[in-house]
Amino acid sequence: MTSEHKATISFSDGTAPVDFPIYKGSVGPDVIDIRKLYGATGKFTFDPGFLSTAACESEITYIDGDKGELLYRGYPIEELAVHCDYLETCYLLLNGELPTQPERDDFEMRVMRHTMVHEQMTRFFTGFRRDAHPMAILVGCVGALSAFYHDSLDIQNPDHRFVSAIRLLAKMPTLVAMAHKYSVGQPFMYPRNNLSYTGNLMHMMFGVPCEEYQVNDVLVRALDRILILHADHEQNASTSTVRLAGSSGANPFACIAAGIATLWGPAHGGANEACLVMLNDIKQRGGVAKIGDFIKEVKDKDSGVKLMGFGHRVYKNYDPRAKLMRETCYEVLGALGLENDPDFALAMKLEQIALEDDYFVKRKLYPNVDFYSGIVQKALGIPVEMFTCIFALARTVGWIAQWAEMISDPDQKIGRPRQLFTGPTRRVVKPMAQR
Ligand code: CMC
Repeated sequence: MTSEHKATISFSDGTAPVDFPIYKGSVGPDVIDIRKLYGATGKFTFDPGFLSTAACESEITYIDGDKGELLYRGYPIEELAVHCDYLETCYLLLNGELPTQPERDDFEMRVMRHTMVHEQMTRFFTGFRRDAHPMAILVGCVGALSAFYHDSLDIQNPDHRFVSAIRLLAKMPTLVAMAHKYSVGQPFMYPRNNLSYTGNLMHMMFGVPCEEYQVNDVLVRALDRILILHADHEQNASTSTVRLAGSSGANPFACIAAGIATLWGPAHGGANEACLVMLNDIKQRGGVAKIGDFIKEVKDKDSGVKLMGFGHRVYKNYDPRAKLMRETCYEVLGALGLENDPDFALAMKLEQIALEDDYFVKRKLYPNVDFYSGIVQKALGIPVEMFTCIFALARTVGWIAQWAEMISDPDQKIGRPRQLFTGPTRRVVKPMAQR
């Protein structure tokens, strides 16, 4: 990185002014390199929630939140969603370029050859209660993969990193489908490698051993699109978690489990599940006629109620993924003859009312990807509690691409944030009788 400009920080406490280099990215805001701040002044920066902090340099995904633009390796999400499938998108995120046909075929063959999990993995599943949340199962089972692929893995070796990426991509659909089958008490379905990546996922989720599962191309395409839209999203909470976990040199499968744990929260990947729960709640209160009352509650800060699927830390405009998801919703509901789906009708009315309301307009709160993705997934037959698992499956490629980028960076250091300490200063431990 080279710097043409500098930032000079002056202090009112007698500390001498200090110059810091300013770096330009290929697009997006400049950054002030404050790495020498502590050495030069004995002071830290304070930025809880990383509102103004770039924690790394990356070439993978770019978001312009004001424009509502999302690019994977420079390609707009709208074009990838129409012209590519999920595996091509994975190849792009991992390798930096879209594959040629032979490259694509080779990549697909490699991924599909790794779809089975070690038979011992089934024992992990049976240790869980049948009513355990599938995300709890997924955190545990993906973490458990590290026990199968640890001793032979040298993370400094690019070939080993690539094989780990392939294994994760290949085994996530199998594990996600197993989590679902376990919760409904059906036998696990072995993968079928002659199907497409997403067709195989649907086969393992919805097939049963006693019947041939008929793959519906429209529905496969819709689920594949959901995977593309969720594949990466630069330095969000779960990706930053994977990077931080990986910065210590930890096993990548364990790092991805940490990402899954972070994704589970309702402010992040859990929002699609929370959104459908919210729509059900409004329906039970009386549906469209009660949207006004619900919006009033959302605007009342003491209620603690949020309009789920609305708002985003980075997008201050319509999330481009939400637009595509809305289109996908039309397609799927049309293909299934569910054009009058009450959730979709309610969501569209809710969106319209919120977008015209001053509270949301002033705060630039627009629908995010999760506003419609739950409706599409429900129509595909995916149970509500599995929604976040599908998100985790899709995001695995982003996590592993970002992890690999970090490990291959020669300047990489263990992540170690500092703090503003406001607790008690040094004091003496009193014997029990004097406390
Ligand atoms: N409903 C009502 N008010 C909201 C909402 C919402 N969904 N989102 C933000 N606000 C308000 C918030 O109360 C605050 O108001 P005020 O300025 O009066 O205090 C203002 O808007 C700014 O919000 P913030 O909490 O500072 O924004 P943030 O950037 O910290 O939070 C968010 C972003 C996504 C956590 C938040 O918008 C939210 O909780 N949304 C609902 C959950 C959701 O849909 N999450 C999915 C995110 S997209 C999927 C992903 O990429 O993971």
